[in-house]
Amino acid sequence: MKSFFNLMHTISILLLLNGIACEAKLSTKFYDGRCRDAAAIIRKSIEKAVSRERRMAASLIRLHFHDCFVQGCDASILLDETDTIQSEKAAVPNANSVRGYNIIEAAKRDVERACPGVVSCADILTLAARDASVAVGGPWWNVRLGRRDSTTANRSQAETDLPSPFVHLNTLISAFAIKGLNARDMVALSGAHTIGQAQCFLFRDRIYSNGSDVDAGFATTRRRRCPRNGGDGNLAALDLATPDWLDNNFFNNLIERKGLLQSDQVLFSGSTAAIVSEYSKKPRVFAADFGRAMKKMGEIQILLGQNGIIRRRCSAIN
Ligand code: HEM
Ligand SMILES: *[C@@H]1O[C@H](CO)[C@@H](O)[C@H](O)[C@H]1NC(C)=O
Ligand SMILES: *[C@@H]1O[C@H](CO)[C@@H](O)[C@H](O)[C@H]1NC(C)=O
Repeated sequence: MKSFFNLMHTISILLLLNGIACEAKLSTKFYDGRCRDAAAIIRKSIEKAVSRERRMAASLIRLHFHDCFVQGCDASILLDETDTIQSEKAAVPNANSVRGYNIIEAAKRDVERACPGVVSCADILTLAARDASVAVGGPWWNVRLGRRDSTTANRSQAETDLPSPFVHLNTLISAFAIKGLNARDMVALSGAHTIGQAQCFLFRDRIYSNGSDVDAGFATTRRRRCPRNGGDGNLAALDLATPDWLDNNFFNNLIERKGLLQSDQVLFSGSTAAIVSEYSKKPRVFAADFGRAMKKMGEIQILLGQNGIIRRRCSAIN
């Protein structure tokens, strides 16, 4: 009788542990029994958005990055300002710069129609970044799911932890290191600057610097749409050659001293120069590393199990 009791006890502990393990870790199958079509619904929604506006692929990948670097990949960036929430949207690196909020909200509406209250905004954002990559010729990677959404945002952390385009290489390396990403991850992820656009005031100093790390012809071309004074918000492609394709051309640009941002060009110096050369010569190595690093970035400090919530709308807590 006693051993029977012990056996039952052991079994119930095993069941309990198994239950916790299922709930409290990411899995590619997380929605299989809960919302079978979630990933397909999201993919359709993102494909539609990118076919309407190709730049949106870039904007969604950046949105995910700016979410993950501030209290983890918890969709905190999507929360609107309220009496109790100081939004990350209003933080310096995000305001008048980060885009795509409405696209994630639309994907959320599509998923809510199929399975109300099941799929987190944080997972939608992570899948959207992957689907955006694929939609512009970039790599596919397997996304593990089960993130939950925050009930808070942190504007001041957005202002300290998101890297500025004016900093030195060592500052970039440490900004990624504190998020658990190494220098190689950082260089691979910066390859996202092979798509999308930047505003004039963020690269003006560089193109007017006459610096030895800027190609003179490149600077002249870029000055046409980015005057010495005014035109702060004028947009320029981060990669002029193939702005609509997530390829490895970004790294060729750096070798030719044609990086648009100072923070791009510094990657072709010091300890990361060899990685830039490698990615410029080996597109498949870049694609594989980019996918791996995106997956790693997408798992920074996530909320699991009973932590956090499933928001009904991405812009507000329930
Ligand atoms: C290494 C540090 C990084 C710095 C300093 C940086 C800085 C910037 C800046 C200044 C812009 C232009 C913003 C504007 O003009 O409003 C930009 C755009 C962009 N960034 Fe980064 N970035 C970094 C890393 C990343 C990473 C890790 C990703 C994603 C994996 C990323 C993806 C993008 C994309 C796709 C755009 C274009 C967005 C669009 O067109 O809407 N960046 N970045
Ligand atoms: C925001 O993040 C900083 C660290 O970057 C932390 O010290 C602070 O407590 C956080 N604030 C809130 C409201 O969570
Ligand atoms: C760059 O060169 C131009 C023309 O030679 C000059 O007018 C300008 O002042 C220089 N800029 C800097 C920052 O030295």
